Amino acid sequence: MIEIFIVTMQNNAFKYWFRQTMTEHSINITAMRREYTQSGLRRADLTEEPMDLFERWLNQACAALLPDATAMSASTVDTRGQPFQRLVLLKNFDRQSMLFYTNLHSRKATHLSNNPRISLHFPWNALERQVLVLGRAEQLSVVNVLKYFNSRPRDSQICAWVSRQSSLISSRSALESQFLELKQKFIQNDVPLPSFWGGYRVTIDAMEFWQGREHRLHDRFIYRREGSGWKTDRLAP
Ligand SMILES: Cc1cc2nc3c(=O)[nH]c(=O)nc-3n(C[C@H](O)[C@H](O)[C@H](O)COP(=O)(O)O)c2cc1C
Repeated sequence: MIEIFIVTMQNNAFKYWFRQTMTEHSINITAMRREYTQSGLRRADLTEEPMDLFERWLNQACAALLPDATAMSASTVDTRGQPFQRLVLLKNFDRQSMLFYTNLHSRKATHLSNNPRISLHFPWNALERQVLVLGRAEQLSVVNVLKYFNSRPRDSQICAWVSRQSSLISSRSALESQFLELKQKFIQNDVPLPSFWGGYRVTIDAMEFWQGREHRLHDRFIYRREGSGWKTDRLAP
């Protein structure tokens, strides 16, 4: 099925269809649509643990060479209840949780310090799939963060020092000159972990798996925690 996607993307018929949706000056998005036919999701396909199904889908997304297959949209809310989203990279997971790394003074971190509820979303639409995660985020221990920080390329480590993420800055050149300055400063030593850089473990409360089907009769299943296990239900698409 994944191969079908790749062939379809390279297929001239697809390119022709895409051209047909273009008008002289703009893309006619109203006319843009396609049928979802690559796969299906039956109750028999569900694993006991949702993360086992997630892992299977993630492996397929990587095998299909989707760009940034581990990128997930992370949604948080501010104190007024205004939701914000941004992409972050999934860096690890186990059966209970998912991990990502970020700046602890960033907007998302400020939101999470007031309200740890978070939603993650994997938009694997090239495979006619999406996965939604609901959970609670808690900050990772320094030991945990340090291990990951030390595995990053040196320039990324320096960038963690340079970028006071989400704060206002005067210009790009200010950012670049600070980068060069810090590169020089740390030239003899390992780059230390900034106290304002860290990560979050999202403990999963619910997960929803969506697989596109023909005629918009898609498959959707939600896993919700029930005792020590999971309750699974099919949802209308
Ligand atoms: C593909 C992609 C991956 C990203 N990965 C991360 C990440 O792992 N951690 C991170 O802090 N920001 C990452 N970013 C940048 C975030 O989307 C965002 O701009 C930044 O974290 C600031 O968000 P905030 O101001 O809402 O806190 C990524 C952006 C893209 C497009």
